[in-house]
Amino acid sequence: MSDEMVKYHKDRAREYEQVYEQRDPRRQEEQDLIRVEMMNFLSGVGVIDIGCGTGYWTQRVSETARSIVGIDINQTVLDIAISKTYRCPTEFKIMDAYRIDYPEKTFRGALASFWLSHVRREDLDGWIEQMHKILKPGARIFISDNTFLEGVGGDLVSKPGDPNTYKLRTLNDGSKHLIVKNYFTKNELLECFSRHTRCVTGENIFHGRCFWWIKYILDN
Ligand SMILES: C[S@@+](CC[C@H](N)C(=O)[O-])C[C@H]1O[C@@H](n2cnc3c(N)ncnc32)[C@H](O)[C@@H]1O
Repeated sequence: MSDEMVKYHKDRAREYEQVYEQRDPRRQEEQDLIRVEMMNFLSGVGVIDIGCGTGYWTQRVSETARSIVGIDINQTVLDIAISKTYRCPTEFKIMDAYRIDYPEKTFRGALASFWLSHVRREDLDGWIEQMHKILKPGARIFISDNTFLEGVGGDLVSKPGDPNTYKLRTLNDGSKHLIVKNYFTKNELLECFSRHTRCVTGENIFHGRCFWWIKYILDN
């Protein structure tokens, strides 16, 4: 991930959770659905929350998980996450999601919320592969993110010859940041994850109006 992207998330830390307070009822309904699915699916397991940010979803998953390690590359967001309270044993570490520093087969659960859209398409396979490596066979994986909605979150920017898309984001202080923001169709998600596991079918994917998620149990 580029330095610009890392700086954007650092500068955005204090205003980040505003994205979860939008008043659109359909959005809130799907957001609630994510919370319930995530909490049920990761219930009772030791979870790594990759790109945990300010701990918004960490806190929700802590209602049911056995324990959680949240990792993020930005100390600023981690400071906010650390200041919160959790319902299960939870710790946070500054760590690069592309170089997860845990031995193979460490965790029984993985959560990545609103992270995959920031991964460059050319890095997706490598990221999924190393995420699988630190998980035990039978581990539970829950990944969610935004669907593309015209006019939401700024204009979508494409660059000639680049498979990625970008958004120009303006923070409350007026600073502007061009960030990688990729959107996936249900078929793209299916194709991408099927390259790494045999256990993903269309049944494992929810693709709504505002959000999508994929949840699956690792077979290998
Ligand atoms: C859109 S936020 C999502 C935060 C949180 N998961 C949520 O859903 O509220 C993406 C997070 O990824 C973090 N991040 C960016 N690059 C990273 C990297 N290379 N390794 C780990 N975290 C990274 C950012 O600091 C930011 O907190």
